[in-house]
Amino acid sequence: MQDFSFKDIENDRVQPGQYTLSGWVKTHRQSKNVSFIELSDGSAVKGLQLVIEPNLQGYSELAPKITTGSAITVTGELVESPARGQKYELKVSSVELVGEANPESYPLQKKGHTLEFLREILHLRPRSNTLGAVFRIRSRAALAVHQFFQDRGFVHVHAPIITASDCEGAGALFRVTTLDPANPPRKEGKVDFGEDFFGCEAFLSVSGQLQAEVFAQGLTKAYTFAPTFRAENSNTARHLAEFWMIEPEVAFCDLEGNMKLGREFISYLIKDLAENCAADLEFLHKRDWVKPGLMETLLSVAESDFAVLDYSEAIKILEKSSKKFEFPVKWGMDLQAEHERYLTDQYIKGPLYVINYPKEIKAFYMRLNDDGKTVRAMDMLVPKLGEIIGGSQREERYDVLLDKIRAQGLPEEHYDWYLDLRKYGSTPHSGFGLGFERFLMYVTGMQNIRDVIPFPRYPGHARG
Ligand code: 4AD
Ligand code: MG
Repeated sequence: MQDFSFKDIENDRVQPGQYTLSGWVKTHRQSKNVSFIELSDGSAVKGLQLVIEPNLQGYSELAPKITTGSAITVTGELVESPARGQKYELKVSSVELVGEANPESYPLQKKGHTLEFLREILHLRPRSNTLGAVFRIRSRAALAVHQFFQDRGFVHVHAPIITASDCEGAGALFRVTTLDPANPPRKEGKVDFGEDFFGCEAFLSVSGQLQAEVFAQGLTKAYTFAPTFRAENSNTARHLAEFWMIEPEVAFCDLEGNMKLGREFISYLIKDLAENCAADLEFLHKRDWVKPGLMETLLSVAESDFAVLDYSEAIKILEKSSKKFEFPVKWGMDLQAEHERYLTDQYIKGPLYVINYPKEIKAFYMRLNDDGKTVRAMDMLVPKLGEIIGGSQREERYDVLLDKIRAQGLPEEHYDWYLDLRKYGSTPHSGFGLGFERFLMYVTGMQNIRDVIPFPRYPGHARG
């Protein structure tokens, strides 16, 4: 293991002295008088400049093999650098070639590969400056998620990945089975899942919410942070088939408390990243696809209250706008990306909550309002992206919940345990789900969700 990571230089936690360091070569410039290698260990945006005297023992034989992408270990003196833009450089006293990277075939030769190209070489993507920065931010954000909830007394719950219950009731499920697809057991002409591994149909979970509710009904404040799976065939820049979701759930909490929690959560995450990932964010925000001033915008979002629009109000605003929408605006419709974008980008010009959606377009578990037509739903929409949080106050009344499960044609027997929670010490309670990748897109300015998750899963793509 090397003596320190390059992030320590960024954080001013390194003193001049003698060190042994390892990493991958970004560039190697050779000249008669002195050679330079830019070395990266992936821990920081900036690499370290290595300075090599050409007469260094053994260097002339190794030099042709020290190419972009090769791995080396060097020992030398870390000294203050006379060059601009870098605090230190390493005067190398010995160099060892650890792993070659044939320049004829190493794909990351030139700078400035497109993100599309990088998606085709997922196994080498972490070597790119852009993706390195994204994944360091992702790692820090995961820590901040846990910190936020743990500091507030939430219990982290590991919800199951395999389940027989469809949380969203939307049917976009990946099946889990050990039956032989060529010759499954049959009963009355249909596949007999009673013979399957779990004795019933089983799926990858679309959400850990129902299980988080179970824990909130005993421990008051719970949250999950786990991968979730959707078999929707949506090939868009903001959908994945496997994505991570953070789902807090709180007993004795209404929609107002839920909106406040969501706002505080987003604000906390932004501030944490601004403090701990400043160099990575600055680097990403300078990319040409990012509108200048993103950091200022994020920091102002972290400090401000969010606008709240009733769904019915939002529909009126959309109807009154002069914009031509592809999906015509009408009370009762689900808001499409174009509508969400109009409300955030053009009307509010910032993040907002839309609340009280028609019951027909939202999941069965949302609490019915007294008007009998709308539910206590809340979506948080942000500029350029639209929805990043979906949540609600939950239906805590047994009879109303049972009616809704029946009205949506869901198999009642799958939800007996969920209904039980409404029989014994039922409480008003609320929660939401933040799409982790959507949030990361929001703070990094990355344009495609496939570039903020290490191994994106989407139609046709499950390799690596
Ligand atoms: O709005 P959704 O479907 O809500 C739920 O799953 C609830 N059970 C959450 C809860 O109340 N506990 O999804 C929540 C969020 C969305 O706002 C979005 O950010 C993200 O998850 N999301 C996706 N992210 C990437 N790819 C997809 N296919 C996504 N579907 C939802
Ligand atoms: Mg939603």
